Amino acid sequence: MDTPRKVEHQQTDRGYVPVYATGVVEQPWASYSKTDHEVWDTLYKRQRELLPARACREFMAGVERFGLGDGGIPRFSEINKVLGKATGWELVAVEGLLPDEVFFDHLANRRFPVSWWIRKPDQLDYLSEPDLFHDLFGHVPLLLNPVFADYMQAYGRGGMKAFAIGPDALMNLTRLYWYTVEFGLINTAEGMRIYGAGIVSSKGESIYSLDSPSPNRIGFGLERVMSTRYRIDTYQQTYFVIDSFEQLFEATHPDFTPIYAKLKAEPAHAAGDVLDGDRVFTRGDRVGWATNADT
Ligand code: PHE
Ligand code: FE
Repeated sequence: MDTPRKVEHQQTDRGYVPVYATGVVEQPWASYSKTDHEVWDTLYKRQRELLPARACREFMAGVERFGLGDGGIPRFSEINKVLGKATGWELVAVEGLLPDEVFFDHLANRRFPVSWWIRKPDQLDYLSEPDLFHDLFGHVPLLLNPVFADYMQAYGRGGMKAFAIGPDALMNLTRLYWYTVEFGLINTAEGMRIYGAGIVSSKGESIYSLDSPSPNRIGFGLERVMSTRYRIDTYQQTYFVIDSFEQLFEATHPDFTPIYAKLKAEPAHAAGDVLDGDRVFTRGDRVGWATNADT
């Protein structure tokens, strides 16, 4: 495959038209600068020190097994040797966010798209679109877990179905992804732990999600999550807590078609709502919450 290279690193290259319909390029590993590698090392070190006793065991095990801290930006080809053998998943390099149906097709075929470019040194704490650090460090370690690996594929298949049904179904499904894959917490024997990629790749939210009195922490419920709006511009007002990856996989196994139809007739909940019937781990004190509308 020819490698369509970007001549320079641009974080918001929205005008880019992928050469391949799948959006897949070759990771231009040789073109990473010394600064790019240093950004990876800095972010890795920071999260590696912070996450023990915060991230779940399965995530930490994945980080170690891939050798993500061996120095500099990992080569996807090396990651793939380990990943392919373990769970049959494969990383593919992409320019950035993909159209929904393309993203779902990758997941349904056990390919995980990873942005090949990395943030700049002045964006260590926040950037608005997923970069290499978020995608690789945040998402890939759990793909070594067989149950989570199957969940991600099932999500991809479910995505194709939701896409065919329509925008409301897609919104319900996107909320599920948001509150599990990106911002999920898990209640373990050792205590509350993080498994969401959006949290483990952020220093601030790795602390806030577990330690802050502001957000709600509520037991996972399928329809509850699929009918709850979320924030894209602030830390979450509510985190949903699973008991195990098996629970998540089982809960999402049923056909969603009737659930989409049912939810369509009901109003969505605000990101910070606590409802009767919620299994409340902690009720947020709402300090510092934004008052503008959530997504
Ligand atoms: N069971 C879902 C459906 O029928 C598919 C799915 C599985 C979605 C796992 C998300 C996660 O649409
Ligand atoms: Fe992500």
